[in-house]
Amino acid sequence: MMKETKTTKELKIIDYGYDGEGVGRIDGKVCFVPYTLIDEVVEFSPLQEKKNFCKGKLVGIYDKSDKRIDAPCPYFTKCGGCSYQHTNYSNELQIKKLLLSRQLAKIEYSGDLELVSSTQEYGYRNKLKLYVDESSIGLYYKGSNKICPIQDCLLVDNLISKAILPIKNFVEGNKLYRFIQNIVLRQENESCLINFILKSYKDINYQGLYLLLGKNYGIFQTYDNEEQHIVGLKSLSCEEFGLKCNFSPSSFHQVNKYLGNKLYEIVLNEIKGKNILNCYSGAGVLSGMIANIGNNVTAIELGKHEHDDAEKLKQKNDLISLTNICGDCQKVIPSLKNNFDTIIVDPPRSGVAIDVCNEISKKNFKRLIYISCDSATLVRDLQILTNVKIKKVYLVDMFARTGEYETVVILNKG
Ligand SMILES: C[S@@+](CC[C@H](N)C(=O)[O-])C[C@H]1O[C@@H](n2cnc3c(N)ncnc32)[C@H](O)[C@@H]1O
Repeated sequence: MMKETKTTKELKIIDYGYDGEGVGRIDGKVCFVPYTLIDEVVEFSPLQEKKNFCKGKLVGIYDKSDKRIDAPCPYFTKCGGCSYQHTNYSNELQIKKLLLSRQLAKIEYSGDLELVSSTQEYGYRNKLKLYVDESSIGLYYKGSNKICPIQDCLLVDNLISKAILPIKNFVEGNKLYRFIQNIVLRQENESCLINFILKSYKDINYQGLYLLLGKNYGIFQTYDNEEQHIVGLKSLSCEEFGLKCNFSPSSFHQVNKYLGNKLYEIVLNEIKGKNILNCYSGAGVLSGMIANIGNNVTAIELGKHEHDDAEKLKQKNDLISLTNICGDCQKVIPSLKNNFDTIIVDPPRSGVAIDVCNEISKKNFKRLIYISCDSATLVRDLQILTNVKIKKVYLVDMFARTGEYETVVILNKG
């Protein structure tokens, strides 16, 4: 964390920076102050002074924006999880749209940009990763890898929220801090799995914690990449678009329980033709949905847990036109046939590797659908892909109140 100085400065906010922080100018120098809004006059304490810019911490507000609201979470501004609890949700959406438009302007796109909002601002997350150090459990402070201890998180679903304090007491009571790297909680409907990821091995008795939490929970332990079921529920199951789905504690699933299906619906409506290549396909829900309406789907996923879940989904739902390949897109794509009608890519934040962009550019397809959770790597990749033209962009606000959002770019060949 950066050091705060005693002298404070006054600033009129005139714009937003890359992370949605307020921006103003003092004697021509750009100043960034998080948690401020356009038109506000604020007092800030400089944390970092450089020749061309400075970064500061908000100390007071002289002129408040009518879009400012009181943040409901007591950890807001300390915990790095949320960025926009200080403003109403419609303003947050407008800021995110502005930031995405600026990214897209770098590739000279100023066309159709549809905003898809989250139906819930809080309680929507089906996953929480708690970090652990020698004496605390929580999330990271903003811009730091030091832990901000928390006892609850307003973004997460009910069973995850209910488990945070018992987990903290369990770790503390059994002096387990030094053995645990982090703890991942996942919820689907009224079932929740808790995975304790150990950094050094210890024989831990989880019975007390399980008895306290009850039958809606399952406890796992992972050491040296070996995931072991300890007690309670063994997997999460749900029905999505008429498909029976199963998730193991570590496999990827869209985190917003209200908006994940909306994202998939957008993709379903935008696919062209019957032969679909789904790259970075996760636990197979999207592939299953596309195969279930009569398409041939080839899905590529690197993660073993995700691939196993995708295979179970294929079997449970008799999806004979779905082929799941476990492997790295970079290696698998060049070995596949050249003709797919639609190619979908949904990579992690790091984006699509340059070789993958080049391989995709070589294939014959009608439509490319790029789903991205990082607009900077998205724009970088769109600059590498050749012979494609953007038809439409969707901003899907999968991560309300945080600085993140999902972008779906629909591209045509030619
Ligand atoms: C953002 S998730 C998308 C998952 C899926 N589309 C969904 O909706 O559930 C990215 C997925 O890419 C997988 N992945 C990461 N690197 C990969 C690679 N090089 N090749 C194939 N899959 C990869 C991850 O394991 C993860 O499941």
